Amino acid sequence: MAFSPKQMEILRFPYEDYDALICDGAVRAGKTSVMALSFLLWAMGAYSGQSFALCGRSVGAVERNILAPLMEIRYLKQYFHLAYNRSEHLLRVSRGRRENRFYLFGGKDESSAALIQGITLAGVLLDEVALMPRSFVEQALARCSVEGSKLWFNCNPEHPNHWFRREWILKAEEKRAKHLHFLLEDNPSLDQATREKYHRLYTGVFYQRFILGQWVVSQGRIYDMFDPQIHLYDPQQRPPALHNAGRRTVAVDYGTVNPTVFLDIYDWQDQVYVDGEYRWDSRKEGRQKTDEDYADDMMAFLGRRPCTVLVDPSAASFIQALSRRGVYVLPAQNQVLDGIRRTGVLLRQGRLHICRDCRGLTDELSTYQWDQRAEEDRPVKENDHGPDALRYFVNSLAEWRFA
Ligand SMILES: Nc1ncnc2c1ncn2[C@@H]1O[C@H](COP(=O)(O)OP(=O)(O)OP(=O)(O)O)[C@@H](O)[C@H]1O
Ligand SMILES: [Mg+2]
Repeated sequence: MAFSPKQMEILRFPYEDYDALICDGAVRAGKTSVMALSFLLWAMGAYSGQSFALCGRSVGAVERNILAPLMEIRYLKQYFHLAYNRSEHLLRVSRGRRENRFYLFGGKDESSAALIQGITLAGVLLDEVALMPRSFVEQALARCSVEGSKLWFNCNPEHPNHWFRREWILKAEEKRAKHLHFLLEDNPSLDQATREKYHRLYTGVFYQRFILGQWVVSQGRIYDMFDPQIHLYDPQQRPPALHNAGRRTVAVDYGTVNPTVFLDIYDWQDQVYVDGEYRWDSRKEGRQKTDEDYADDMMAFLGRRPCTVLVDPSAASFIQALSRRGVYVLPAQNQVLDGIRRTGVLLRQGRLHICRDCRGLTDELSTYQWDQRAEEDRPVKENDHGPDALRYFVNSLAEWRFA
């Protein structure tokens, strides 16, 4: 493994006069992998019989992003014995009589928040720290009471008002933290073609954050890459096999006073087709529909080909009404920012197609805006019903489809 000069700075950090390390910047820039390696080498060199924490968004994310790559490094296997106990979420690393424990925690896992409270740590690594609840991070930091303990953070940029930027990046000097800013060029394993692929993946605020590594405010159109010429198709042009061969899902954004939207979506050969839309706007129509009315409309919309229906998780009574009719309903995942990023990637890659008949969705995708006055990333809550339903579907897809 050859390292870039920026990565060498990560390897040097434990032997310098700092208490913390902060690596922020572009995606895939080589932050996590080298930080994990440097953390382990430091821990094994400086301590024995101590506990350390490896934290990510979830324990699963730590297993994938930190543990799996670490276990692959041949050099580590030559010098250390690494044993991972999956049920305890515990990695034991030893060399001769020297042994340390590395506990895996997920910032968003409720069990982790409770478990980390009791532990005494000599060091903590927080991967993607800006995506963790602040309360969890503070709890983890408060556990670092062993002499000489160090804090290791990495993340991609978020909104400039984010607490991690305010409390750590802007106060790096005061907190005796070494701050390194990463770009794609700092990862020596990416060739030119791969770097270009990442440049093409994002536009707008996501380009500024994930490629340029800047903490910038989200403003303007959210889906500025949405282009009717590229993304819309006529009903006659739909692939003939779509309805038979595609995996069908109906995604629902539910409203009583606000509009209710159903989207008829097919996932086929790695492409997503939004092939139909139902919309009831009670304000415009001058009449509100009940859950039973909407359930009737859903049965008609589904026709003879039943499928999974993803519903806005807050619509509990409508979910029940559908379940009573034997519809297979799943509550949707509602992560707004992640869903927007993923939808943007599909649009950029030309893998999201929308039937011209879906007028409501098409209009809303063109006008969907960031709320520039908000203190965090937030879309303007107007004419967002189609984009919300679409996001519920996109959030149900596996992450590898967006990398
Ligand atoms: N010096 C290196 N030699 C070989 N492979 C490397 C090196 N640095 C990074 N990589 C590989 O590049 C990929 C991206 O690196 P890594 O996951 O560390 O980036 P990151 O900055 O944490 O990205 P993200 O912000 O997306 O989490 C990984 O597969 C990693 O193993
Ligand atoms: Mg990373």
